[in-house]
Amino acid sequence: MSEARLLNLLARSLLAGQARAAQDPYRPVWHLAPSVGLLNDPNGFIQHKGRYHLCYQWNPFSCEHGAKFWGHWSSDDLLHWQHEPVALVPAEQYERNGCYSGCAVVKDDELTLIYTGNVKYPDGNRTAFQCLAVAEADGTFRKLGPVLPLPAGYTGHVRDPKVWFEQECWWMVLAAQDLQRQGKILLLRSADLHHWQLLGELAGSQLNGLRDFGYMWECPDLFRLQNQAILLCCPQGLPHEAERYRNRFQAGYFIGDLDLPQASFRHAAFQELDLGFEFYAPQTTCADDGRRLLFAWMGVPEQDEADHPTRAYGWIHCMTCPRELTLEDGQLRQRPARELQQLRGAGQQWQGSATAAPCWPCASAELLIQPQGAFALTLAEGYCLSWDGQRLTLTRPSLQTGQPESRSWRGHLQQLTLLFDHSSLEIFINDGEAVMSSRLFTAQPACSQFQGDTTLHLRYWPLTGGV
Ligand code: FRU
Repeated sequence: MSEARLLNLLARSLLAGQARAAQDPYRPVWHLAPSVGLLNDPNGFIQHKGRYHLCYQWNPFSCEHGAKFWGHWSSDDLLHWQHEPVALVPAEQYERNGCYSGCAVVKDDELTLIYTGNVKYPDGNRTAFQCLAVAEADGTFRKLGPVLPLPAGYTGHVRDPKVWFEQECWWMVLAAQDLQRQGKILLLRSADLHHWQLLGELAGSQLNGLRDFGYMWECPDLFRLQNQAILLCCPQGLPHEAERYRNRFQAGYFIGDLDLPQASFRHAAFQELDLGFEFYAPQTTCADDGRRLLFAWMGVPEQDEADHPTRAYGWIHCMTCPRELTLEDGQLRQRPARELQQLRGAGQQWQGSATAAPCWPCASAELLIQPQGAFALTLAEGYCLSWDGQRLTLTRPSLQTGQPESRSWRGHLQQLTLLFDHSSLEIFINDGEAVMSSRLFTAQPACSQFQGDTTLHLRYWPLTGGV
């Protein structure tokens, strides 16, 4: 379908649906969510000329994974975002089944998008092209077309390029599935973004000491912190374990020694980035001030979307809050971006026995908990966060079955930061040592009711403004 026609249909979808979506009581007030339709991966996250740009996988037509456009927001402060012209419309033959995920770089002062043109054939096969688009003065993007067809030796599942500049050239990590159905991350190099040379497989299932480790790895990202290379990726097909890999698909990272020209990455074991119910496809950028910032999709592919109540209002899914990444004691830490503190209203403090703790409104709030012993925090009927001295557990009723489902973390708990935004809860454990991100569709806005035979120190701020 032509770009003009697709944009016309998009306009109708927005005009018809936007007001209803805005009325949803579950709609976040400071997280990014689609005006209408379905949002998934963050794409093209970058700071350019001081301004942050964040694109996103967007089906503006329905709450299903169908057409994939790139929506585009920009911001000066990571808090207040404005809509930009739609960045990519899947109008060309080489992207007819979606402008899939990718990244942004600045080359010769121009903002350039590198993304996957996805093509599905009627027989079930597919192919993929890595494509370029360059920003115009009016905020739209001009497509330059494919620069990389499917490499030999891989199925049609090749996508999600992440590109950066280093050692005088451009490097790309690219998600792929080989012909034995093993997930891999490819490394490519280019002098000009137009001509790419495949250097080899940097990591993957059956590589670097891993055995079977997933049939596809999606959404790679590669960067350095403290001279260590960190590869983020999303392996698909890991079997669930008692306390690990509980979601349909995982998002995590490897830390290691990287030799780019040799395409060699000797890495340690896979670690999950987030232990909550909904977290996937993280993408990072290096801000002008040197911070490594991350957004992720607060959703998981093929996981329990059918019963999300926001569908009734014509939208589904949102982003996580922006986070700062650091490497501390060989582990990634994620903290809420410091800008978020500007959303805090008048703070309150309280110390005393858990059962006497006040009940603050938590629809949009930040709650800091320093517990001395075991406690449980009931958020609403069936929704509970509990600490038994060894294990922190978040329990919620499954949207599909109503049965309780839980996610947990083990360790030595010192403090918790809880960020609420109407239908989401992000739990930062011990100042970002671990994180649990989840959607919570409670009948009442979450409200804190503590139980337990212990003393708690609490700090609380309502959060207002943003988006
Ligand atoms: C991850 C993903 C990517 C793909 C995009 C399509 O959620 O499957 O691999 O590019 O979503 O929307």
